[in-house]
Amino acid sequence: MDWGMKNRLSQIIKPDTGRTVMLAVDHGYFLGPTSGLENAKKTVEPLLPYADSLMLTRGLLRTSVDEGTSVPIVLRVSGGNSILNDDLSNEEITTSIKEAIRLNVAAVALSIYVGSKYEHQTLMGLSNLINEAQEYGIPVLAVTAVGKEMVRDVRYLSLACRIAAELGAQVVKTYYCEDFEKVVSASPIPVVIAGGKKIPENDALKLAFNAVKRGAVGVDMGRNIFQSKYPVAMIKAVRAIVHDGISADKAVKMLRDLTKKKK
Ligand code: R5P
Repeated sequence: MDWGMKNRLSQIIKPDTGRTVMLAVDHGYFLGPTSGLENAKKTVEPLLPYADSLMLTRGLLRTSVDEGTSVPIVLRVSGGNSILNDDLSNEEITTSIKEAIRLNVAAVALSIYVGSKYEHQTLMGLSNLINEAQEYGIPVLAVTAVGKEMVRDVRYLSLACRIAAELGAQVVKTYYCEDFEKVVSASPIPVVIAGGKKIPENDALKLAFNAVKRGAVGVDMGRNIFQSKYPVAMIKAVRAIVHDGISADKAVKMLRDLTKKKK
C-alpha cells in the first residue's frame, strides 16, 4: 500500500485505537429527504466534533458542510436509483475520481448488491472504481447492500464482504448478524457496521458494542445517531464504546447521564 493510501486510511481508522466512528448521512441518494436529514447542515454540524469521518454525497457535501472542516470525507459515488423502485440494486458510479480529488476526500464508497439482479453491474462498478481510485491512493469502502429478498445472515454477509475484499476494496461496511466474528474472520480487510433502521438507543449501543467485540473496527452509523432524540449524546456514547472500549451497559449509563443534563 502506498503512502497516500495509508495516510488517507489512517485519517479514517484512527491509528491510536485502530478503530473508527464514521457518521453516515448519505441516505438521501436514494431515500430523498430522510427523516432527520431534511436540514442536513443543522443535523450534521453538532455531530462533526465526534465523527472520525463523514460519509455523504457530493451534493450534500457542497451544500451542507463547511469547507473549513477538518473531518475526513468519505464520498458516496454510487447511485442512480430511488426508493420508489422495487429493485434497488440498479446502481452505477455517479461521481468521478476527478471530482473526488477536487473535493479532497479521504475515501470513496459505493454499494454492491451481491445476489441481486444487478450484482454483476455493481461488482464491476466496484472493480472499476478500485482500479481508478488506487491510481491516486484513494481507499474504497464497499457497502454490502442487502436486497429485500436477501437474508442478513453470516453466510450471505461473509460472501458479500469477502467478494468486496477480493476485488480490492480497502474497507467493507456490512450489517451485524449472529456469528458476526465469522464475517470478520472471512474478511481480510477492516469491517465496519451500519446501524440500520432506527432502533431504541440502548439496543443500538449494544449493537455497536457487540460488533466491535466480535472484530469490527468500528461503525459507519447514520439513523441510530441522527434520528435519536439526543444525537450528540448518542454519538458520544458510541465513541466511548468504539475508542475507549467501554461496555454496552456503561454506554447506556453514559447516554442516560448525558441526556439527563439536557432535561
Ligand atoms: C445506505 O443508505 C447508506 O450506505 C448508509 O450510509 C448506511 O446504511 C448506514 O447508515 P445507517 O446506520 O442509517 O444504516
